[in-house]
Amino acid sequence: MKKGVALGLAVISVILWTWPASAEYKAGMRLASALPMDHPYMVGAQKFADLIKERTGGRITIKLYPSNQLGKGEREMTEGIQQGAIDLLVSSTGPLGGFSPSINILDFPFLFRDFDHVDLVLDGPIGRRLLDDFEKAHIKALSFWENGFRHLTNSKVAVRKVEDARGLKIRTMENRIHLSAWKDAGLNPTPMAWGEVFTALQQKVIDGQENPVAVFYSSKFWDAGQKYFSITAHVYSPAPLLASKKTFDSMPREDQELFLKTSYETGRFQRKINRDAEEARLKEIAAKGVTIVRQVDRESFKKAMAQTYESFSSQFPKAEIEAIMNAR
Ligand code: PAF
Repeated sequence: MKKGVALGLAVISVILWTWPASAEYKAGMRLASALPMDHPYMVGAQKFADLIKERTGGRITIKLYPSNQLGKGEREMTEGIQQGAIDLLVSSTGPLGGFSPSINILDFPFLFRDFDHVDLVLDGPIGRRLLDDFEKAHIKALSFWENGFRHLTNSKVAVRKVEDARGLKIRTMENRIHLSAWKDAGLNPTPMAWGEVFTALQQKVIDGQENPVAVFYSSKFWDAGQKYFSITAHVYSPAPLLASKKTFDSMPREDQELFLKTSYETGRFQRKINRDAEEARLKEIAAKGVTIVRQVDRESFKKAMAQTYESFSSQFPKAEIEAIMNAR
């Protein structure tokens, strides 16, 4: 018995000895994303970096790497997070199902009614479970930030209903649910890393793409010949803030808690500025000569994409989907 106690105390003292105290811990971290500094991802990232610096008295500093500087696209940068080469990343769920398959449940079309519905699910137990699942992939998912509701844009036709879009060659994220939904809707989707999209649009390799207002705006897609922007809001696109588990596990416990709390707080701020800016951004996009199609028959897209739920029902059972859809 005494031997057991002694061994236990020895183990605890080794842990305490090797676990850095907050006051001693210092780090310079790198935070990446695919988007430029004026996009809400990076506005949120700047706020997070400022708060962490202030709250740790400058012990932890975070340098920002926008616009795919640390990788060709979100899949490559998520690999960087997994390997510990990048400390922090804001990424859409595009490629994340390849790391933590359960996150794909958020990628189904017409799953969320509106932003209140989104917040209820992402900030509740379902959202927490989806973030925790990343641990199996050696990634620490801190909290949900957002990309926004995605809309279809193209260079050829004013899309008012799904029939208008049939046959369009569009880029999708490298995401099995999105790809399947667009095929079901009768379009010709091609998965492509983000870094290649502008040139592919410009060279007319593809007719269109789909993304939230802020992405279209910060990417200046009118300069790549995108003429029509249809408010399809066909899917909500969350963007978790991910941390390398190697980095996170090396931090003192108080700093880990500070990261979780501050990332959640920043996520609320980031979602708000993203939503608040949408209408003004749309007006600026229209001023660049892009036709904004506001009257879209969303029901026609919803019907055409309904088959996607059936196609993935063995991986995402009806009960799990309904728990999200019926959240009130
Ligand atoms: O379309 C995508 O790949 C993503 O929405 C983007 C633009 C990289 C932002 O996460």
